[in-house]
Amino acid sequence: MIETAPKKRLYIKTHGCQMNVYDSERMADVLRPLGYGLVDEAEGADLVVLNTCHIREKATEKVYSELGRIKRMKDRKAEAGEVMTIAVAGCVAQAEGAEIMHRQPAVDLVVGPQAYHQLPELIARAHRASGQTLSADFAADEKFDALPAGRAPTGVSAFLTVQEGCDKFCTFCVVPYTRGAEYSRPAEAILTEARALAEKGVREVILLGQNVNAYDGIVGGLAALAHQLARIDGLERIRYTTSHPNDMDGALIAAHGELPQLMPYLHLPVQSGSDRILKAMNRSHSADSYLRVLEKIRAVRPDMALSGDFIVGFPGERESDFQATMSLIREVKYAAAFSFKYSRRPGTPAAAMPGQIDEAVKDQRLAELQALIAEQQATFNRDTIGKTVGVLFEKPGRHKGQATGKSPYLQAVHVDGADHLVGKVAPVTIIGEAPNSLKGQLAGEAF
Ligand code: SAH
Ligand code: SF4
Ligand code: F3S
Repeated sequence: MIETAPKKRLYIKTHGCQMNVYDSERMADVLRPLGYGLVDEAEGADLVVLNTCHIREKATEKVYSELGRIKRMKDRKAEAGEVMTIAVAGCVAQAEGAEIMHRQPAVDLVVGPQAYHQLPELIARAHRASGQTLSADFAADEKFDALPAGRAPTGVSAFLTVQEGCDKFCTFCVVPYTRGAEYSRPAEAILTEARALAEKGVREVILLGQNVNAYDGIVGGLAALAHQLARIDGLERIRYTTSHPNDMDGALIAAHGELPQLMPYLHLPVQSGSDRILKAMNRSHSADSYLRVLEKIRAVRPDMALSGDFIVGFPGERESDFQATMSLIREVKYAAAFSFKYSRRPGTPAAAMPGQIDEAVKDQRLAELQALIAEQQATFNRDTIGKTVGVLFEKPGRHKGQATGKSPYLQAVHVDGADHLVGKVAPVTIIGEAPNSLKGQLAGEAF
């Protein structure tokens, strides 16, 4: 192919959740026809995009320190008579808007998560005016319609956003404010994107949404979408994240028993094991209703690996509430989990609640919780030893001839003499463990 435009260097730094990773890929797609090619470092780039996360205070503050560093790179480039354009995207862009350009005037444009299709126009405008440009609205449907159809997948596993936004309004969380109301993409658009990915060698799609199991872009919801995706040639694996316990309907649970492509790993955040705290969090489920959902899931997939999210130190959390969370964890036996200290987010109801918890108490509870999860994770991994499971090989390993892939339970597995299998699924017997991965041995033909 002949390059029609001079190559411009694009650097994208992604923070936050997988939906941001997906969005960053799509931003690169939208900018490619304008001659932008991805580079690995910000220094010297023509366009720097920071795709930001607002979920906890630390995440937001990181943006401003990073912007300070990028500003110095912009100054260096200007000394050489060249221009660096700085764009802030993502959830901080949505939440703070023009405030970002006040705090860091080197920023040329701010673009919210629903406006990425406008990037070419925003960049052109920023160049024309060398003034600052802002686009942050909430029209998710326009975004997906206007993004280019052609994607350039970078591996055997690809993220695919099917749903955005959240109507749940948990009292600690900024997502309903940064990502707007729940919106489901039409199934046809998703299936077209998935088929194109499969044709390019993608073997696994990870369906994304802030509340992915509330997906309603097709009659029958996420279960129906999974059934459609399972028919696509070459697509061996389907995963989805993140789910809300209340949207885990019977059809989706049943699909786990019906579709071999639907992997036995479920990320189902509970946040707390105390009903008093769950109520204050506006989670609209109880510890017990959560456990009942898991019971139904394990009835159809006894081997289901479970993961969750936990917040410790929510306002008003007593030691007994925290211990209720610990008991719930002991009962569930997680394969993995993410846990956080409660972070006070301006504008959310919990930020104004009485009984804010001391940092030291939060630290201690977090350490205790993480120790238990680490123990459970180690047990889960050890229990896989001796079993033969399908491994989807993703890339060559560190040693010669080795390849690295994922088990159905999302464990990293290294296998010797398997480097010819990248992009394929093969049966592997798990023979041992390393600190963050497992060791396996080929046990049959790949497909
Ligand atoms: N349902 C969402 C959750 C997004 S936020 C999803 O699809 O991913 C991811 C996790 O961050 C939440 O589950 C919660 O555990 C944590 N979190 C959100 N707001 C937080 C806050 N203010 N302080 C600490 N952790 C928070
Ligand atoms: Fe945030 Fe709750 Fe919505 Fe998840 S369900 S994105 S935690 S408001
Ligand atoms: Fe962060 Fe926004 Fe995702 S706040 S976690 S990037 S939805």
